[in-house]
Amino acid sequence: MYEGLSGQKKGILFFAAVVIVFMQGGLWSARRHSVNNFPDDSLLPVTTYLPFGKSNARPSVKEHPIPKLMADAEANYRQLLSRQSQTLEEAVREYERRYMRKPPRGFDDWWRFARNNSVVMIDEYDNIDEDLAPFWEISAEQLRWRASLAGYLPFVDVVRVKDGKAIAVNIVDGEESEAVSARAKGFLSMLANFQDRLPDLEFPINAMAEGRILVPWERRVQSNTTLQRNIDAIRDELSGNGYPDWHGEGTVWEAYRRTCEPGTAARRLFSSFRASSMNKTSQLAARSEEFVFARDTAGNYSFCTNAWAHYTQGHFFSDWRTIAAAFPMFSPAKASGYLDIRIPSHYYYAQTRRYTYGWDPVNLQLKEVDDMEKPWDEKSDKVFWRGASTGGGSSPPGFAAQYQRHRFVRLASDQSSANRTVVFADPPGSTNYIYADVPAGQLNEDMMDVAFVKVVGAENYPGGLDALVRAHRVDDGGVNLGDHWQHKYVVDLDGMGYSGRFFSFMESDSAVLKATVYREFFSDWIQPWLHFIPLSQSYSEIYNIHAFFSGATESTLRVANATALYMPADKRKTIDGDRRLRRIARAGKQWKRTIGRRVDMEAYVYRLCLEYARLWSDDRDSMSFSP
Ligand SMILES: *[C@@H]1O[C@H](CO)[C@@H](O)[C@H](O)[C@H]1NC(C)=O
Ligand SMILES: *[C@@H]1O[C@H](CO)[C@@H](O)[C@H](O)[C@H]1NC(C)=O
Ligand SMILES: *[C@@H]1O[C@H](CO)[C@@H](O)[C@H](O)[C@H]1NC(C)=O
Ligand SMILES: *[C@@H]1O[C@H](CO)[C@@H](O)[C@H](O)[C@H]1NC(C)=O
Ligand SMILES: *[C@@H]1O[C@H](CO)[C@@H](O)[C@H](O)[C@H]1NC(C)=O
Ligand SMILES: *[C@@H]1O[C@H](CO)[C@@H](O)[C@H](O)[C@H]1NC(C)=O
Repeated sequence: MYEGLSGQKKGILFFAAVVIVFMQGGLWSARRHSVNNFPDDSLLPVTTYLPFGKSNARPSVKEHPIPKLMADAEANYRQLLSRQSQTLEEAVREYERRYMRKPPRGFDDWWRFARNNSVVMIDEYDNIDEDLAPFWEISAEQLRWRASLAGYLPFVDVVRVKDGKAIAVNIVDGEESEAVSARAKGFLSMLANFQDRLPDLEFPINAMAEGRILVPWERRVQSNTTLQRNIDAIRDELSGNGYPDWHGEGTVWEAYRRTCEPGTAARRLFSSFRASSMNKTSQLAARSEEFVFARDTAGNYSFCTNAWAHYTQGHFFSDWRTIAAAFPMFSPAKASGYLDIRIPSHYYYAQTRRYTYGWDPVNLQLKEVDDMEKPWDEKSDKVFWRGASTGGGSSPPGFAAQYQRHRFVRLASDQSSANRTVVFADPPGSTNYIYADVPAGQLNEDMMDVAFVKVVGAENYPGGLDALVRAHRVDDGGVNLGDHWQHKYVVDLDGMGYSGRFFSFMESDSAVLKATVYREFFSDWIQPWLHFIPLSQSYSEIYNIHAFFSGATESTLRVANATALYMPADKRKTIDGDRRLRRIARAGKQWKRTIGRRVDMEAYVYRLCLEYARLWSDDRDSMSFSP
């Protein structure tokens, strides 16, 4: 056993070493054309908006894709709002239409709660249905038994409702204590306004940001009876691991691969570092990609079919073990493939100096306008991001260079003369779009204010701390939440899990650019290109987003010898773009204040609790709503 383990460990290290050498060789230096790429089904096909003729030096796009994305987004959202049920009867009918069963008992109370609190989203709870689906496959007895194993699991607390009162406990070796995580406390406080209307229940709460539940594909599709027979196997899975971390005996990716359907790329033993479908040999193709805009964030991105892409996401390198059985784990976010049950993040619900817009930590009150907020015209035109070099672990070690934050900071720290292609209207305000090849170093200086504020995990970076600091801007001056609103563009990136700052960014008067591979409780409630700007996982279109909204920078105009150069300075800026950006900033703020409120999170959790209570009951039929 000992022998075998160390052999396996050596194997992993060898594999890691090979990949690192590979990375430092050709592929790595060509990162602009390979590693940063993240082809995504949700991206518009290149050909749709391919603006570049082969030999034509000044081809023109007649229509920029962004206005259409914005118009479609607005139309979509208007339609979503207008179709929400207006009466309880309509809400019941809509529920039955979507899920082909009756709503849970207490649905009328929930509806009144929603109505009383002006909750806009009455019908959009598909996430709950999706997350709870595996638990319809097992009996209530099974569900309760599995939940009762929470005490065996590291970093899992329990929120327990008994006789209409909820408490949060941490169970270790059968002993209960009140030393619970902030996440459990957060969930507990979300129940306060309706706990008296709930039956007795137990919620295992994930104390970490990462998703925890990865059930192998073969086990997921088993019938109920087989599952029952597997009780012992599941108990082992839940309680028998001994260590909370991988301890060199596996990785998240190894666990994730098994959730994929047999035959998918991820099920093959080794995945290619580079997607075979990525045909980026020609300069033309590379340029085009920089002008491709994501329609949405990558929450549904398939790492099963795009196995290579797991190298670009830190969470696949997390040190913490995942759990290979359907277990009711309440977590703040999940990437596709995880079976956690989503709840609102405590960062969004609580009110704190570091995560809440307008929070006055001295008087403990919420201000309408944050002390550090600025009028739009006084904000800088730069793209702002600060954060730590976290976002992944060291299982296996050595891959930090590809984690989502490192890739972004490196992109923005690139001082080189490698060209990026920027498309802009010339003259400003016209529909004559031209492009210029501008050195990355120049664009980054013009547009970006991006840096790590803290370096951690440098041992996972090829070349160590020195190499990390050389390739990434590090600004150790620290950052306040309010520093973000000094800029028109704030970027929101995943960390170890989802980004807890998102709701505060949304509430600010700045526009949010968001890249994520997670879906959260609100993902069906928000509209990309209306409330925020979705950013692809390669981030490579960011220069063209900036050029569209803020206009080409002086250096870009000069490279292109654009006609704007020969116009008076006040005519060079595109007013329309800036207005559009401001509209996104305003719509985002409005969203936070009408749909992303604390009471909206309560409404989500309330409805989730009713559904969970039905699953928890031996007589599920009696726990259905009857008018
Ligand atoms: C809704 O408001 C009414 C009237 O203010 C109140 O009687 C009722 O208890 C409220 N219901 C819920 C579920 O909050
Ligand atoms: C599994 O259990 C559910 C709920 O008890 C039931 O509706 C379903 O028919 C069962 N499926 C099988 C394959 O036994
Ligand atoms: C890449 O694209 C070029 C031009 O479209 C094509 O000729 C070539 O066959 C492609 N290569 C691969 C490996 O698909
Ligand atoms: C993502 O997947 C979920 C569940 O399969 C689905 O309901 C949702 O519509 C998908 N979202 C997008 C943007 O494709
Ligand atoms: C960048 O583009 C310019 C203009 O097309 C070209 O002269 C220059 O060689 C390019 N630089 C690099 C590093 O490719
Ligand atoms: C730049 O454009 C101006 C005005 O269109 C033209 O007179 C000049 O020759 C151009 N310069 C170069 C280097 O192409």
